[in-house]
Amino acid sequence: MNTQEAISKRRTFGIISHPDAGKTTLTEKLLLFGGAIQTAGAVKNNKIKKTATSDFMEIEKQRGISVATSVMAFEYKGKQINILDTPGHKDFAEDTYRTLTAVDSVILVIDCANGVESQTEKLMEVCRMRDTPVIVFINKLDRYGIDPFDLLDEIEEKLNIRVCPLAWPIGMGDEFQGVYNIYEKSLSLFQANKTSISEELVKFDNIDDPNLDEIVGEKAANELREEIALIEGVYDTFQREDYLSGEVAPVFFGSAVNNFGVKELLNGFIEISPAPIGRTTNQGYIAPEEEKFSGFVFKIHANLDPNHRDRIAFLRIVSGKFERNKFYKHVRLDKKLKFPNPTSFMAKDKSVIDEAFPGDVVGLYDTGNFKIGDTLTEGADFLFAGIPSFSPEIFQELRNDDPMKSKQLDKGIRQLIDEGVAQLFIQEPGSRKIVGTVGQLQFDVILYRLTHEYGAKCSFTPLPYHKACWVTGEDKQALETFKRAKTGNLANDKEGNLVFLAETPFLLEMAERDYPDLTFHKTSDFKLKQKG
Ligand code: G4P
Repeated sequence: MNTQEAISKRRTFGIISHPDAGKTTLTEKLLLFGGAIQTAGAVKNNKIKKTATSDFMEIEKQRGISVATSVMAFEYKGKQINILDTPGHKDFAEDTYRTLTAVDSVILVIDCANGVESQTEKLMEVCRMRDTPVIVFINKLDRYGIDPFDLLDEIEEKLNIRVCPLAWPIGMGDEFQGVYNIYEKSLSLFQANKTSISEELVKFDNIDDPNLDEIVGEKAANELREEIALIEGVYDTFQREDYLSGEVAPVFFGSAVNNFGVKELLNGFIEISPAPIGRTTNQGYIAPEEEKFSGFVFKIHANLDPNHRDRIAFLRIVSGKFERNKFYKHVRLDKKLKFPNPTSFMAKDKSVIDEAFPGDVVGLYDTGNFKIGDTLTEGADFLFAGIPSFSPEIFQELRNDDPMKSKQLDKGIRQLIDEGVAQLFIQEPGSRKIVGTVGQLQFDVILYRLTHEYGAKCSFTPLPYHKACWVTGEDKQALETFKRAKTGNLANDKEGNLVFLAETPFLLEMAERDYPDLTFHKTSDFKLKQKG
């Protein structure tokens, strides 16, 4: 296959949602359609349970399973679909943010009863940073939920994106009769059905067709006509370019658990979603069609076996063709590396691949060469514009409980940070190690792994910080004054950037007000802008 053909065939995306909205269920139904799995439940078992907070082995086991399903690929209507799995557990949100840099579009699942939830807003913020195209799937229509018009208003308002319904539900909960496809003028009738993938489809010439009254009843048919007229009046006609530029999100409705509306979603997705797109580097934009290979690491997974400390680095291919056993340049280390066993991760099993194309994700066995965000090229020196870190939400001091084991602790924490498990800040003077994460679960994982994999002896002490902001400023004197005034609240991140640790939102606001010449960044993205 030539690279151009491979690019036009591929669709690489992620499914995101607030926990419990139905991401896992939808993923599973899509895989059933694509024939990648045969039975329901295969993906579900991979989910990190909400109750797992204290069960380390369970976490580790599930992390292991999730390697195998990190990328789920299947063919559908001549396209190769790559679904990149994103952890549902909120404590692993940082993982999800990073995975979003490796996709070309997303499907956002919203529970029709809960509407836009906190995690939905955060995830969308990340999508908006890169103008990632978004399709919205409103799920659980078999239950009573928020009125669809109100829901669309809420999405527009809270997620800061315009919407365009491509389908419309007829009723909800017990009265849910099906979904009218505005584009194809067809009606899918709802049947609660958890296994079959067939759907009854009725086509109409136009919405005034009297058959509609016969099928759904006169009242529902008239309501639908009114609603469609309203939609046509309120929302602009769908333009694919607006979706591709991240300005408009097309909306579908359904019930994932009942396998309803999933096929429409998939068909719509195939039709409009983007083929692999390029990425920005410190030397400009790299298009997927570029002849020479390039890619970046967006995720690193440690081996489960503590005796083998090798890891798997997940590489998203941006341009050209990746080949097994060919030497590539690790730009940060200025080192040539080749990979005898690059792996593709299918839902069914792992297999060694000989070549891969833009949009694909390959797993590279790594003995410690990679960090999150690293670039591989065929010789060029550019670096992909990195992966942002967000301010952590929980901070704890990492204490060494055995001075004889400080080497183990240093090495362990450094490697875990490279994997992106948490962020590390070093406070001067005294070299106090402050670990920041987005969830409590991370501390359990870190402690467990430092003890079991690295033989360190350590503990965590909670710290009262609320946020860590990266501080920059042109005005050297203002920066020095700030540093003198805030000595106790300053630290450096792993690259030596200055970080301000604020105890409360108020203290952060005060600092922003008192030092107007300085900028307080909530994500590390400013580094990209500085690199240019
Ligand atoms: P998540 O990955 O986004 O966290 O959500 P997940 O798919 O696990 O779904 C969360 C719960 O919502 C599950 O129920 C699932 O069965 C249910 N669900 C998903 N889609 C629909 C739908 O269309 N309608 C209804 N009524 N429920 C839906 P659970 O009780 O947590 O798990 P289970 O025992 O049913 O597997």
